[in-house]
Amino acid sequence: MSKEFDLGTLLAERGAERYELHSKYLNHQLPKMLHTIGFDKVYERAEGAHFWDADGNDYLDMLAGFGVMGLGRHHPVVRKALHDVLDASLADLTRFDCQPLPGLLAEKLIAHSPHLDRVFFGNSGTEAVETALKFARYATGKPRILYCAHAFHGLTTGSLSVNGEDGFRDGFAPLLPDTALPLGDLDALAKELRKGDVAGFIVEPIQGKGVHEAPPGYLRAAQELLHQHKALLIADEVQTGLGRTGDFYAYQHEDGVEPDLVCVAKSLSGGYVPVGATLGKDWIFKKVYSSMDRVLVHSASFGANAQAMAAGLAVLSVMEDEQIVANARAMGDLLASRLTALVDRYELLSDIRGRGLMIGIEFGRPKSLKLRSRWTMLQAARKGLFAQMVVVPLLQKHRILTQVSGDHLEVIKLIPPLVVDENDVERFVEAFTAVMDDAHSGGGLMWDFSKTLIKQAVANR
Ligand SMILES: Cc1ncc(COP(=O)(O)O)c(C=O)c1O
Repeated sequence: MSKEFDLGTLLAERGAERYELHSKYLNHQLPKMLHTIGFDKVYERAEGAHFWDADGNDYLDMLAGFGVMGLGRHHPVVRKALHDVLDASLADLTRFDCQPLPGLLAEKLIAHSPHLDRVFFGNSGTEAVETALKFARYATGKPRILYCAHAFHGLTTGSLSVNGEDGFRDGFAPLLPDTALPLGDLDALAKELRKGDVAGFIVEPIQGKGVHEAPPGYLRAAQELLHQHKALLIADEVQTGLGRTGDFYAYQHEDGVEPDLVCVAKSLSGGYVPVGATLGKDWIFKKVYSSMDRVLVHSASFGANAQAMAAGLAVLSVMEDEQIVANARAMGDLLASRLTALVDRYELLSDIRGRGLMIGIEFGRPKSLKLRSRWTMLQAARKGLFAQMVVVPLLQKHRILTQVSGDHLEVIKLIPPLVVDENDVERFVEAFTAVMDDAHSGGGLMWDFSKTLIKQAVANR
């Protein structure tokens, strides 16, 4: 007879093997990288914007699981909604009925972007993007998608076709017909549109890679150009959406921007259940689903499942009750202003940018001779090593988790849960100041560690 499955027992018995299991059965480079930079921790518990290791040490999360933990971890309202939906034993995913939760969540989402009408639910950000690309191509009858240099829209093949970095694309060709444009360049957009084969232009209102914002007026002017050429504006709000930038959607920062399709995912389910949503105009959906024969022409087996929908409804309700968007704006402003005040103090710090709780910290070439030679050595080995040198002590010494904002970039991106408070902001600023003090002293452990990073970078060439 088989033993009854018990998750607690399994974790108690085998949890300690986590890194070995990962090395043996999953992407072996992850544990290797974590060992190299000393990030191979054992986190045991999490709540809100914090998690704790086995010794009870408290870590501040400035990464939010790449943005999925918008409400922080284990929000009690989302958690209760998930317990409730499991306890309800719903007849979910029969596939030949209409359940109430997807309609209710779609209604709520549309209320936040009233110029849109309909929603397709998938299971991830990249699937939300794939849906938008397919819908744009079908609705316009044209093949080509435009996107921005350095864009990131996910890593499945369609989304990869609109990825602005060779490092991700190399070796996976041929991809879809596509063309990259510099972010903010309207002439380049107009030139491509004149060729007559463009279905749409996909854009992150603030690019995740490097935290670069579309210049003022750009999205609105792009929209006008696109519509003149019967092409669609697709806003990828997978990272920027649901309050992160201090507006519900980042495209709403400016009046008059009304994308034809909007992609949402990450924090929509409070980080608990994979989810993605593509919001669009009625005519686009009516074209794709133009007859009963085409009812399943675009669908996903797990799409609109009850757990994801229940979590989504709970998340949107919490966002309203707890004024999450306003908190993101207030804490983002506070954090950005405290960090901006440091730019003049530290020669290695060159820029603070972003909006709400999506903040980029950029490092640049120092002026003083002593630091410049060290900086140049790092740059020669690999661009982005200095930012890595900052991320490491932030975790090791100050127990704050951050990330370098993309390969070969001297930028750290802060995307904490939107529930962070003044204490979290102060803790980050204090820790960052201490790390910058260390870096500017020109000696010590931090620069010692740079030798390990340089060796690693050279070995990886
Ligand atoms: C702007 C943007 N679009 C799409 C994606 C892909 O989302 P997922 O990882 O859920 O496929 C991401 C992920 O980071 C993203 O930042």
